[in-house]
Amino acid sequence: MSLDNSKIGVIGAGTMGSGIAQIASQNGHTVVIVDSNEKILTQSNENLKKVLNRLIEKGRINEGESNKIIENITYTTQLELIKSSDIVIEAIIEDLNVKHNLFKSIENIVSDKCIIASNTSSLSIASLGASLKKPNRIIGVHFFNPAPLMPLVEIIPAVQTDQSTLSEIQSLIKRWNKVGVLCKDTPGFIVNRVARPFYGEALRIYEEGIADFATIDWAITEIGGFKMGPFTLMDYIGNDVNYAVTCSVFEAFYFDPRFKPSFTQKRYSEAGFLGLKSGRGYYKYNNKQTIIPSINKDHDLGTAIFERILFMLINEAIDAVFMQVASVEDIDLAMTKGVNYPQGLLSWADEIGLKPILDGLQNLYEEYGEDRYRPNPLLKRMVRNNLKFYS
Ligand SMILES: NC(=O)c1ccc[n+]([C@@H]2O[C@H](COP(=O)([O-])OP(=O)(O)OC[C@H]3O[C@@H](n4cnc5c(N)ncnc54)[C@H](O)[C@@H]3O)[C@@H](O)[C@H]2O)c1
Repeated sequence: MSLDNSKIGVIGAGTMGSGIAQIASQNGHTVVIVDSNEKILTQSNENLKKVLNRLIEKGRINEGESNKIIENITYTTQLELIKSSDIVIEAIIEDLNVKHNLFKSIENIVSDKCIIASNTSSLSIASLGASLKKPNRIIGVHFFNPAPLMPLVEIIPAVQTDQSTLSEIQSLIKRWNKVGVLCKDTPGFIVNRVARPFYGEALRIYEEGIADFATIDWAITEIGGFKMGPFTLMDYIGNDVNYAVTCSVFEAFYFDPRFKPSFTQKRYSEAGFLGLKSGRGYYKYNNKQTIIPSINKDHDLGTAIFERILFMLINEAIDAVFMQVASVEDIDLAMTKGVNYPQGLLSWADEIGLKPILDGLQNLYEEYGEDRYRPNPLLKRMVRNNLKFYS
């Protein structure tokens, strides 16, 4: 079966569901978007019109195309309207029981051939598939926010998923001009696993009193070339949201110390310093403008901070290769296309040289004696054998 002209059902008309419905409609599919909340459906429809008007103003689409995109989408509270869907993409709240109940209802409505996909960020695809009578049709399709703009989609087959479900989804995502990366059904998939030290190590450096938030952000952006520093990004994501993801990955990895959450972030969340949305996070905001405190622009200090965070990120990316979570190329694509890293971590590692990275991690490990700094065995082997990730 080809999904080229398929009918798409999207469940959940919040941030992600609305974006996914827009992508599907823009690609010529007939879309039914379902939400239990009528107001959210109205809001989703109004937001889409605003987005499309902006695209018309910019000359990206004409009025006829805009009308077609709107007409392609049916907004409804009635789940039954997804009956003729070839694929249903679920984007409702992140709760296993609620998703299980929904999946059972979906399966009672759609045909046996319908693919059932989830946009979950943190639940295992296997656990979602367990609620289905035909679990071979379950698959994870993890879009990034805002979905119409972010190119990355992590594609996650569960142990129950069959090859045809995977192949059909891979070609659909490609036809939507998205960058699909194949990922094992493991906690945090690629991006939310590999990116943990970006936040965790930055918080740790702050907690040790090595530098303040603004200086760490300066080191990462000015010296490291990242678009945003970790504290600016955490304030943007929301401290509560970022802290919850860290806790969920930590728990899912059976409390591996590499993923240990930070007290600082917990306290900031508890205090309601959630970031931009609450007017105060690591930074203070005045009308959404950051009040930047003074920065210690000491180049040696900045380099040391940047290298420590980068080496920890590279170690995590290497672990994802070591544990067969994804290919070298897909891990690099995930971090550049999903979270805008300036370079793929593994190609960056090749460029720096694996030996200095191993030495840097080994020094941290010896200094602290903590497991979070243990260099990955694959890194050690590659250094021993003088290997690179890309030839
Ligand atoms: N927000 C992100 O940045 C992001 C990124 C990637 C993945 N995700 C994942 O996408 C999913 C949705 O996240 P979101 O941020 O769009 O959430 P959201 O809160 O914006 O939207 C969820 C919507 O689901 C609706 N809903 C809840 N239960 C329902 C049910 N039983 N039937 C129909 N509708 C129901 C709610 O009314 C709400 O409108 C979650 O699984 C989340 O983990 C979120």
